[in-house]
Amino acid sequence: MPRMAIVLGSGLGDFAETLADAVAVPYGDLPHWPTARVVGHPSRLVIGSLEGKRVAALAGRHHFYEGLDVGTVVFATRVMGRLGVTQLILTNAAGGINLGFQRGALMVIDDHINLMGANPLAGDNDERFGPRFPDMSEVYSRRLRGMADAASSATGVAVTHGTYAAVHGPSYETPAEIRYLRAIGADAVGMSTVPEAIAARHMGLEVLGISCISNMAAGVLPEPISHDEVMETTRRVRGAFIALLGGIIARL
Ligand code: HPA
Repeated sequence: MPRMAIVLGSGLGDFAETLADAVAVPYGDLPHWPTARVVGHPSRLVIGSLEGKRVAALAGRHHFYEGLDVGTVVFATRVMGRLGVTQLILTNAAGGINLGFQRGALMVIDDHINLMGANPLAGDNDERFGPRFPDMSEVYSRRLRGMADAASSATGVAVTHGTYAAVHGPSYETPAEIRYLRAIGADAVGMSTVPEAIAARHMGLEVLGISCISNMAAGVLPEPISHDEVMETTRRVRGAFIALLGGIIARL
């Protein structure tokens, strides 16, 4: 089993195709594995090589907005951790709140704000995973964020940094909600990643998060937000995203 796993966000699943000597298993063929059904998420586990390293790529994730229990949302994270993965890269599409951002930017997640109204660690604590009250003062590893910056310099793929706010969804935010999120220090907003990051830190994994700013958040531009726009942007940045990930994995 690889030491490294990567969860591919909306429209970013193509990365899995770039792995060499790959074995792909549809989620439906994995015992107990929940199936993901969102448009833009071909759902399978691909294990292959990149930059001479073995990587497990999860193309398709589970979202709280699907109405799933948050424990189900982090099922794949728990399995990766128990199989021996020690480094987890979480990627997503997110709305840009920071007015300095542009559609298509790649943001290294420095920290998060959990506004989902749920925590995957609620309920009885399973001591095999980790402690009852895990520290969250460095969810996104400073070391891995530094590697992302080094990969950015080496590949020429620009990155920005910021704080990711996680909301329940599935409706996009209102302009008032986006003003609120900006006021509390969020640079980007999305509907994923945070449950997996919390569960991974609970298990002592090193976590890196990367958001593709697929659209400017509600009210920033005088136009509505659509899932089509999100998918169009992630398709457009596909090459840069894959190059950056390759650079990061080479350094891990
Ligand atoms: N809001 C929440 N989630 C998102 C967005 C957004 O604007 N874009 C992509 N995921």
